[in-house]
Amino acid sequence: MTTLTQLPAWTALDAHTQTLKRLHLRELFAQDPQRGERLTVEAAGLYLDYSKNRVTDETLQLLLELARATGVEQRRDAMFAGERINVTEGRAVLHTALRAPRDATVLVDGQNVVPEVHEVLDRMATFADQIRSGGWRGHTGKPIRNIVNIGIGGSDLGPVMAYQALTFYSQRDLTLRFVSNVDGSEFVEAVRDLDPQETLFIVSSKTFTTQETMANAQSARAWLLAALHDDAAVARHFVAVSTNAQEVGKFGIDTANMFGFWDWVGGRYSMDSAIGLSLMIAVGPDHFRELLAGFHDMDQHFRTAPLEQNMPVLLALIGLLYNDFFDAQTVAVLPYDHYLSHFSAYLQQLDMESNGKHVTLDGQTVDYQTGPVIWGQPGTNGQHAFYQLIHQGTKLIPCDFIGFARSLNTLPPHHDLLMANVFAQTEALAFGKTAEEVEADGVKAEQVAHRVFEGNRPTNTILAEVLTPRILGALIALYEHKVFVQGAIWDINSFDQWGVELGKVLASRIVPELQAEQEPPLDHDSSTNALIRRYRQQKAS
Ligand code: F6P
Repeated sequence: MTTLTQLPAWTALDAHTQTLKRLHLRELFAQDPQRGERLTVEAAGLYLDYSKNRVTDETLQLLLELARATGVEQRRDAMFAGERINVTEGRAVLHTALRAPRDATVLVDGQNVVPEVHEVLDRMATFADQIRSGGWRGHTGKPIRNIVNIGIGGSDLGPVMAYQALTFYSQRDLTLRFVSNVDGSEFVEAVRDLDPQETLFIVSSKTFTTQETMANAQSARAWLLAALHDDAAVARHFVAVSTNAQEVGKFGIDTANMFGFWDWVGGRYSMDSAIGLSLMIAVGPDHFRELLAGFHDMDQHFRTAPLEQNMPVLLALIGLLYNDFFDAQTVAVLPYDHYLSHFSAYLQQLDMESNGKHVTLDGQTVDYQTGPVIWGQPGTNGQHAFYQLIHQGTKLIPCDFIGFARSLNTLPPHHDLLMANVFAQTEALAFGKTAEEVEADGVKAEQVAHRVFEGNRPTNTILAEVLTPRILGALIALYEHKVFVQGAIWDINSFDQWGVELGKVLASRIVPELQAEQEPPLDHDSSTNALIRRYRQQKAS
């Protein structure tokens, strides 16, 4: 057995959950009519209502005890202090330094990294302003109007999500595109209607060796040169965001046009580094800095608030309760805002690449559940697709609802309709509808069972006033720290991603087998051999 499952707080929670499972949210609210105001917390412009969760005061006490017993506070402080908590890669984990104010001090190996962070931010701002104003000219003298970010994973999902989230604040005469997949169709479609003379490629890759990104970057260069017929054009139409100056140089991008970051920034935690360059060009340096300020607001809250009033800690503990003691396999994240349509996809990498681990920091196999499956999409669309299962299916799916008091676009009555759905859904999920209530509506006897809603489906509701860059920053940091706290309790390394390696290695071995003129000897398993043969035959026909 691992240390975790032997902790008194864990075994107490295990026993306590047996009672908890018999309690209905209807009873919890009846016993404590103020619960909906009491079980709430506010920080960094966000309001979290966690009252519609299957927790009592005792549950929360036990969860907090678990957090204390597993050293969450010490681990948090070690992260902020720049200790090498990413033990398998021997790295510090300091995305929080990316949003530290100019006068802050964050030491890595005794060196303050904040001045470097701001130096890169300032260079990004100068460049972004040049592009936005039309001052940066392409090779033929035309201003740049199209920005194509080439990157994948953390070098794509953050900028895509945040660009979508902050479209309202973007410069509308600029076209932003994002190319991530190695499927050539994505690149072809992304540039189909673009004028190469007006197009800038931002090649974003921490390592600058990622197969998908390098293939897309090569195709981008070929596309540009096919139109401009001059290698010198690359310097005006390509910039790089990377930690690997050597590879950037080898690709042919002038390292003067490279924006750097550091090995203490994990890919999925990098959107507030230079990886956010495309976003900064779209929304402007001031909005980008506001976004960073929002991240920092939540960092400060996470770092200083007592655990029982700490929003990321509470979100993490409640999530852990369902994951480890209620056998819930997934979490649905349901933003009721069109601009947050990519938010769940972004969280998938943040959470699942971080906490999809099966061994502890010292390599022991866990005997408890770690990271959940994260999924979701904007609310009302989901209501007409998968909510049926959440309401009446056999699976427990804890949900996070995210909404805003004001819309960025005033178009009555839309926003009231939208938000009425948020409140109605969480109410329906919590309280359901009993057979008596269904019968009282005059429903035919044979339909009653079908129209009963058991309720007791847990939800969190996160509300903010309006979607600003600052609020977006706070929201992302909230989830970053939630993931951190869960990983700390599970005693796993939330900052490596060895699980993506094997597939990469095998793919690089298979590429030549697909490309060879004559079929090479194949020594995979019989399934893989047959698939490769079939592919080769059909591609040739
Ligand atoms: O998916 C694996 C991964 O290493 C991610 O962690 C990372 O965000 C992505 O690939 C892209 O890596 P890079 O920025 O080095 O191209």
